[in-house]
Amino acid sequence: MKIKDKFAEKVPEWRERVRKLVKDYGDVKVDEVTISQVYGGMRNIKSLVTDISYVDPNEGIRFRGYTIPEVLEKLPKPPGAKYPYVGGLYYLLLIGEIPTEEDALEVEQEWKERNDVPEYVCGVINRMPDDTHPIPQFSQGILALQRNSKFAKRYQEGMNRDEYWEPMLEDSLDLTAKVTSIAACIYRHKYKGDEAPPPDPNLDYGANFAHMVGIPTKEYEELSRLYFLLHSDHESGNVSAHTAHLVASALSDIYFSFSAAMNGLAGPLHGLANQESLRWLMDVLEKFNGVPSKEELEGFAWDTLNSGLVIPGYGHGVLRKTDPRFSTLLEFGKQYMPDDKLFKLANLVYDVVPQVLMEQGKAKDPWPNVDAISGVLQYHYGVKEFDFYTVLFGIGRLLGVSANIVWARALGQPLERPKSLTTQMLEEIAIQAKEPA
Ligand SMILES: CC(C)(COP(=O)(O)OP(=O)(O)OC[C@H]1O[C@@H](n2cnc3c(N)ncnc32)[C@H](O)[C@@H]1OP(=O)(O)O)[C@@H](O)C(=O)NCCC(=O)NCCS
Repeated sequence: MKIKDKFAEKVPEWRERVRKLVKDYGDVKVDEVTISQVYGGMRNIKSLVTDISYVDPNEGIRFRGYTIPEVLEKLPKPPGAKYPYVGGLYYLLLIGEIPTEEDALEVEQEWKERNDVPEYVCGVINRMPDDTHPIPQFSQGILALQRNSKFAKRYQEGMNRDEYWEPMLEDSLDLTAKVTSIAACIYRHKYKGDEAPPPDPNLDYGANFAHMVGIPTKEYEELSRLYFLLHSDHESGNVSAHTAHLVASALSDIYFSFSAAMNGLAGPLHGLANQESLRWLMDVLEKFNGVPSKEELEGFAWDTLNSGLVIPGYGHGVLRKTDPRFSTLLEFGKQYMPDDKLFKLANLVYDVVPQVLMEQGKAKDPWPNVDAISGVLQYHYGVKEFDFYTVLFGIGRLLGVSANIVWARALGQPLERPKSLTTQMLEEIAIQAKEPA
């Protein structure tokens, strides 16, 4: 397997680089922590490391050093397509280099050889009560595959820690290969009352998803590739990535880790925001019987804020400018659905809401994040079931978190275990700090 060999080639230099940094500079301070940060969700404390992606507050995400436009330009694409192979993105995340077409196709081929999902997995999902949200079904489906974990098996047999990454990479390739079929099984059973067809060996990863979910058009294939790429990684501190990292740090395998990550993604302040955002847009359309005027929309946004609610899809824990993932999807919309009512509304919201949030003066980031538009594009192509959007986010997110976990094992990252204090201890620290010397 070429990707495994390539990864193996990279490991010794990275191990040496990290070993040297920690040995020679281990006691150099990276950050200081304030009481507000301890009580404030650890916001901005520099305490995680990943080389796979970095979110600059003003520029947004870079994958392995490349901005989204660069990634879209440089990665190999299927013949005639505008958006790249998902396999090429996975290669970039794992290896850190732009793949050749052959490299991208090799990952796509690995996925084709691993994408069979045992029948019982869909059985587990389908037997859950009809009113179950698709995220518990997704999380459950992933856990149902855990018995196949090669990492867990090798660990039981006794494995040298230098080898941990190998079965972790195997598991990651297996799960990334199968996850689109699990999602399609949920979608087709829950919303269409039938079964997803098996993957088509002639289609790439994104196109196969479009095929299984039942929207086999060129445009939806393009959107699927783009969607998974954009949602793949957003450095390590976000809830889903951090959850996966934390769980895997206990040497739990990728099935346990990713399933846990999906439970975090299900929260309204994280992945659920995309469905909340579309619901908010629908409420606007309903209230005004179509796209409102700028003034009407402004009033609606204020009503939302005055009733103590957030405007979903706006704001971010790290970003301080328009999320480039939002801009990329906006471009997609401009090209493929400029006259779509919801798309027009999302554009108008982009015009109005940042000003309103700035005037209110609470949100540190008044600009849109990816969730402000992602649902609009799905809705246009017929995926109108809001609850499903977080699953789509999850498929993409697996690419990033699994690449991170494989690297965490390759670099021997230890069990994560920060220290907690009591409020009294913090009060004492506060008093000491304020006392005159
Ligand atoms: C993403 C989010 C959770 C970031 O949280 P954060 O880092 O705590 O954000 P801030 O530091 O800017 O929050 C400061 C205040 O502004 C408010 N605020 C932030 N974004 C807001 C929004 N979109 N609408 C209204 N108020 C918002 C916060 O609720 C907070 O209010 P409080 O002081 O009364 O508690 C937050 O912006 C939010 O809730 N956005 C809407 C949901 C969303 O789009 N989530 C997806 C993120 S990818």
